[in-house]
Amino acid sequence: MDERNTLATSPQAPFREGGNTGGRRENLLRTGLREASEEHPSTYVVQDRSNQDELARLRLQDQMTTSSMGGVLPEQPDPMLFRRVLDVGCGTGGWLIEAARTFPTMHLLVGVDVSRTFVEDARAQARAAQVSDRVEFHVMDALRMLEFPAGFFDLVNLRAGMSWLRTWDWRKLLQEVRRVTRVGGTVRVTEFEVVPQSTSPALTRLCTLFVQALYHAGHLFAPESSGITCQLAALLARHGFEQIQTRVFTPISRAGTPEGQGLMETIRLGGHTFAPFLEKWTRLPADYEALCQQALTEMQQPAFVATGRLLTTWGSKSGAPEDDPQWRDR
Ligand SMILES: C[S@@+](CC[C@H](N)C(=O)[O-])C[C@H]1O[C@@H](n2cnc3c(N)ncnc32)[C@H](O)[C@@H]1O
Repeated sequence: MDERNTLATSPQAPFREGGNTGGRRENLLRTGLREASEEHPSTYVVQDRSNQDELARLRLQDQMTTSSMGGVLPEQPDPMLFRRVLDVGCGTGGWLIEAARTFPTMHLLVGVDVSRTFVEDARAQARAAQVSDRVEFHVMDALRMLEFPAGFFDLVNLRAGMSWLRTWDWRKLLQEVRRVTRVGGTVRVTEFEVVPQSTSPALTRLCTLFVQALYHAGHLFAPESSGITCQLAALLARHGFEQIQTRVFTPISRAGTPEGQGLMETIRLGGHTFAPFLEKWTRLPADYEALCQQALTEMQQPAFVATGRLLTTWGSKSGAPEDDPQWRDR
């Protein structure tokens, strides 16, 4: 086993510092990171995380999201400022690994996810990409606490949190995110509108079903496609972040293009993996399987086009520089 993973799974593990703390090593992870052999129960929309379809879907969605936005931090004016980066709910780790590749100035990148399966996959991918000297992944339930010291990170990223955060979870999570961010550091949240504008009526029907399920399960603030994106700026403002900004991305997928193929594959895989969630929170139509098939057929029509809408909202942690814990000595 990789030495770094062995360290990370020990409750006494020193959290490796990538940089300039005068050679001091902090035992930052005092309490957690015990990686149980079982998956923890979670509020994520897919319960069966050992499912290979879900692993494939997550990897694909991760790549498609990053490429459709034009990179990992396309809206940030000066990503070189971010030396320690945390990705919450990192899934299979693609965003963090790409960030490490793109920005050698980032010297410590940490991903946390409640799923051991995804974390193990992310570690394997980091090794394959030869960035595991700077990139770490840990099993952690972010709804409990973020097991890092106050003021540690320059940037905290959260993408597609709507898939596991209920409306009432944001308060505690953002308090924790704020605590682990340094004064002046950045929090960055990216969410998508659930129903793309498209030429496929079956795709619209499927995605509308998903809106209903997400809303009934408490993941959306309103029973609408924009039921999460409409609240992001207000959420950050309410939880101690300032200079809040927003950027909209509108990825286009057409039949016969890599984007169109990717979208079709995520719908094919998601049709299976989301079915139990839809069944639990909506009245699943009797023709659900036929509906999935119909969407795939319509997406192969030469004239097929879908326009998505993603929103990235970011802000900086307010406070005086002297509020930063002394141990940071940067
Ligand atoms: C839709 S995926 C997004 C993955 C990644 N952020 C991306 O954009 O590609 C949501 C991830 O959140 C993770 N998750 C769910 N509940 C969590 C929790 N309580 N704490 C940490 N991660 C969680 C899931 O296991 C899943 O990997």
